[in-house]
Amino acid sequence: MDLQTPHVLIFPLPAQGHVNAMLKLTELLLPAGLNITFLISSKDHRSLCGYATVHLRLNSHPGFRFHVIEGLYEGPMDTGEKLSLMFDSLTEVATPLLRKLILDFPVRCVIADGINGFSLDAAEGTGVPVIFFRTISACAFWAYFSIPDLISSGELPLTGTNMDELIMNVKGMEGFLRRRDLPSFCRSEIKNYTLHQVSNITRRSTAAHALILNTFDDLEGPILSQIRKHCPNIYTIGPLHAHLKSRSLSTLESSNSFYKEDKTCLHWLDQQSPKSVLYASFGSLATLERDQLLEFWHGLVNSKKPFLWVIRKDLVLGENDEDKVHIDLEKGTKERGYLVGWAPQEEVLAHPAVGAFLTHNGWNSTLESVVAGVPMVSWAFFADQQVNSRFVDVVWKLGIDMKDTCDRTKVERIVNEVMVVRKEEFIDSANHMAELAMKSVCEGGSSYNNLDRLVEDIKAMGV
Ligand code: UDX
Repeated sequence: MDLQTPHVLIFPLPAQGHVNAMLKLTELLLPAGLNITFLISSKDHRSLCGYATVHLRLNSHPGFRFHVIEGLYEGPMDTGEKLSLMFDSLTEVATPLLRKLILDFPVRCVIADGINGFSLDAAEGTGVPVIFFRTISACAFWAYFSIPDLISSGELPLTGTNMDELIMNVKGMEGFLRRRDLPSFCRSEIKNYTLHQVSNITRRSTAAHALILNTFDDLEGPILSQIRKHCPNIYTIGPLHAHLKSRSLSTLESSNSFYKEDKTCLHWLDQQSPKSVLYASFGSLATLERDQLLEFWHGLVNSKKPFLWVIRKDLVLGENDEDKVHIDLEKGTKERGYLVGWAPQEEVLAHPAVGAFLTHNGWNSTLESVVAGVPMVSWAFFADQQVNSRFVDVVWKLGIDMKDTCDRTKVERIVNEVMVVRKEEFIDSANHMAELAMKSVCEGGSSYNNLDRLVEDIKAMGV
């Protein structure tokens, strides 16, 4: 790697959704004339080398290298407590390593996942700016940021049983955010470690040099205005996957997936009528109780819509046998359902046969649905997803939020509501939002201009 080219350290939280987004950022920055060292856990590096193709593309670039971190927590992260184990191991193992890398190389800046708040400690006194990249939506970021206000106003902890009561202390969301739409951590005790960790980490963004968000101004303008009061320098550069395409830096076939994609589902989709199929997937971390799985399955079968469903091998709690779950479900599914262990999601969402997306509203999945113009049936699992799904329903009007319950009757009713009863209405708003998303990442659009500004600002650092 030559030392004349500006060098950036990129450090995501070790989880599929986060690594995925930061790899996309890397692919946008490399051709702009920046060298990049990408810090990655050994577990994620193994996964990436298994099935993804992105590492081949990146490794062939002379200005790129992975730096593999050994010794990080490698267990699941589907609860706040388990996430805390990851935070602890990051603080212990990665802080000294990051500091060493900053001191060893002439680094222009660090772009760290905003969840890795300790990056600020690692860079302290070195004069190297740290830019935070939050892979969540602006609306979820702002809800996390508002946790101290919710506590001081007495809206947290949640007392009583009415989860539909409106929340008044997340500014800009007063008219529609219910208690049940707060980030899942807010449902815990007030002393809960994760609740405070999430809030403290988010507040630390005010100390970062700048904030990068994978969103676009037309989607989250009013909430971005709230955030700017505390973090004035924000680069909104998303949707990243669409941005890569608009700059001709990616194709649908390239993959960042940690799992093996089952592409046979694309042939199955080819045989279905336009906009007839419900695509169902709960991302890379969410888990279901077996009862919930069966309620979803009955609901999907009863909806009489053809469906393509991703059953990850660790989707069902306590069961690690994808084949067994498949056999159980396939008994009544053959007629109109198709099950896969992992799908090429962007390709699936872009397929003309897909009419709606049953999603947990992880931020990547939400943006992928927005760009593809596919209406959503939302079933949030945890963290930011509760906020995203409320915005999908009442703010962006891109689908229906079935939060907290997934009994078979409700699943059937809401799938039909989105795909039949209100089909035209949702398709119109989804098409409109997809157009705005594409406009933002094309030359002259807000995200396009912000990426150019980010690159210029980095090049000017430390000169
Ligand atoms: C979690 C959070 O919930 C999310 O909001 C946060 O920003 C990152 O961590 P995750 O559960 O992984 O993320 O969901 P999501 O953000 O939607 O990312 C999942 C990714 O996996 C998407 O890019 C999606 O395209 C991909 N995917 C999912 C596949 O490629 N195939 C599949 O079968 C399922």
